[in-house]
Amino acid sequence: MEDKVLLAYASKYGSTKEVAEAVAGVLRENGLAASLQPVSKVRDLAPYSAVVLGAPIYLGSWLGDFRRFLARHQDAFMKRPPAIFTLGPTHSDPDEWQGVRNQLAQVLAKYPWLNPSTLELFGGKYDPAKLRIPDNLLAALPASPLHGMRASDARDWQAIRSWTQKMAKQLLLEKS
Ligand SMILES: Cc1cc2nc3c(=O)[nH]c(=O)nc-3n(C[C@H](O)[C@H](O)[C@H](O)COP(=O)(O)O)c2cc1C
Repeated sequence: MEDKVLLAYASKYGSTKEVAEAVAGVLRENGLAASLQPVSKVRDLAPYSAVVLGAPIYLGSWLGDFRRFLARHQDAFMKRPPAIFTLGPTHSDPDEWQGVRNQLAQVLAKYPWLNPSTLELFGGKYDPAKLRIPDNLLAALPASPLHGMRASDARDWQAIRSWTQKMAKQLLLEKS
């Protein structure tokens, strides 16, 4: 096994991918070899000494390719729990954050076998002008929570950096 960290992500509109790139950058600054890949491209976890995963929440669930990835590697993740970050709230409204924390608790309840070494919720990014079918149709429905929601980017790069630095320290400790 090489001493390499897998950083695998799912992303529909690219904001989680950009966070994953930032996380990979901080891991590398800390001397860790990070391999950044979309979950759809990862076949084998054996070459990696640790796994960090990132995925956004959509309609109260993780994206489908992320869910399939977790299911495919359940045995490996039960033996070696991954670190996970997830994106969701797109504004700084405390009620929205609390709602997403509740959603995240429900998401995790579907994976009783999953016990992440660390789990962090980061703000996400929303741009109604970039939505594709079916998301744009959904956002157009007056009853949708996305209806009339303004564009925003709630990603806190300092928080992302701090979380990653803490995780890098832990990974380096495990290496030594
Ligand atoms: C159609 C749609 C549904 C969403 N549903 C949720 C949700 O249920 N909970 C949440 O916290 N965020 C939700 N979001 C916000 C996304 O998680 C956020 O925009 C994230 O940054 C998207 O990641 P991506 O750019 O990597 O695809 C939703 C966004 C869209 C466009």
